[in-house]
Amino acid sequence: MTTMTQITSRPVERLHGRVRVPGDKSISHRAAMFGAVAEGVTEVHGFLNSLDCRATLAAIEALGVRVEADWRGASGELRIYGVGPGGFRPPAGGEVVLDLGNSGTSLRLMSGLLCGQGFAATLTGDESLQRRPMRRVTEPLARMGADVVTEPNGTPPVRIRPVAKLHGVEYRLPVASAQVKSCLLLATLFADGETVLVEETPTRDHTEIMLGAFGAPVSAERGRVTLVGGAPLAATVLDVPGDLSSAAFLTVAASLVPGSELRIECVGVNPTRTGVLEILKRMGANVELAGLRSWNGEPVADLHVRFAPLHGITVPQALVANAIDEFPVLFVAAACADGVTELSGASELRVKESDRIGAMAEGLAACGVAVEEKADGITICGNGVIGGQVDSRGDHRVAMSFAVAGCASECGVTVAGCENVDTSFPGFAQTAGEAGFDLEVV
Ligand code: S3P
Repeated sequence: MTTMTQITSRPVERLHGRVRVPGDKSISHRAAMFGAVAEGVTEVHGFLNSLDCRATLAAIEALGVRVEADWRGASGELRIYGVGPGGFRPPAGGEVVLDLGNSGTSLRLMSGLLCGQGFAATLTGDESLQRRPMRRVTEPLARMGADVVTEPNGTPPVRIRPVAKLHGVEYRLPVASAQVKSCLLLATLFADGETVLVEETPTRDHTEIMLGAFGAPVSAERGRVTLVGGAPLAATVLDVPGDLSSAAFLTVAASLVPGSELRIECVGVNPTRTGVLEILKRMGANVELAGLRSWNGEPVADLHVRFAPLHGITVPQALVANAIDEFPVLFVAAACADGVTELSGASELRVKESDRIGAMAEGLAACGVAVEEKADGITICGNGVIGGQVDSRGDHRVAMSFAVAGCASECGVTVAGCENVDTSFPGFAQTAGEAGFDLEVV
């Protein structure tokens, strides 16, 4: 794999055609982890071949799980030989040290998976991951009886010591986070009793859906998820839908460039993820879903996007959690829309792979957009993107968002710091090129 460091994205006439985006990142991580602890061989079709998901695979392989992979560009066909409960084999010396790169999902979910396993583990990652908050998982894990600590400021490494047994917990999630919810559900697989999680704001429910596919005694209704501890998982066959978070870059680009018409096939449209489409529709976008179907309980559809003039909106609070990863590119849509867009109640954006409010505000301002940062959001005046040079701060979604801005700009955008684009969207430059982007990649 060659590393991309810089992208220059030039204005284009129109975007057009039929494309596919690689597999869903959240679903791929979960498939690897559940497959690892299930009984039997799990087949995964369309596993995302990204750096983040490869970090999860490397982690389960380090624990003695055999994985056969046939990599085909951005996607992989996997056979995961599940080891069943108590089947992980830590390396000689008894303590496993896992470097999870840039992947917060890997680190938070693996913390849950490992704290009831009877061996010590240390979980860490790159510079960005080492700055991210982990107490949101270690505190509730400790309530389940885990011996787990962070650095004094709450950041990785996360250090786990063996304990006799975990127990289920009733817990109200203080932050809207599917990673926290999923971490606790994974820990419950190795706990006595039942776990009940209460969510004020619904977050992505891929873990609940996939636990069902693996035969676990899980139930989810009206913000309350219940899982009976200690039940074994049965291996299964999974098809991973295309990642809506990746499709969002193409969707926004086709909405912004006059004359565009783009079909993005086989995209996951789980309603806990479609906040981005709802926000775009409220801004005036023309996005239709065709051929709605279900893959292992996950809704999948083809997106049909046509250019439409957008207008600014105040983003409804109820849509924030379900569009959390797509705000960088939604800010680009807002910059090109007519009128003002206001976002608040989104302080979580400051603790993602980068401070996404700060990174986007700085980059948009450098491209001639009038923006005002707030502690928990942003105000964007939609006067169009002139263009310029921006720094992604090493954040994949910020980098791809500015590539989208370039398409709709007056004189192009050059984005530095594109090394991490492959953490979520391997083959981005090629797929975007197929859709009609004019990119120069260094
Ligand atoms: C994810 C949950 C979200 C999201 C991340 C993936 C997941 O994080 O931003 O990219 O797979 O569960 P939070 O749980 O921190 O909101």
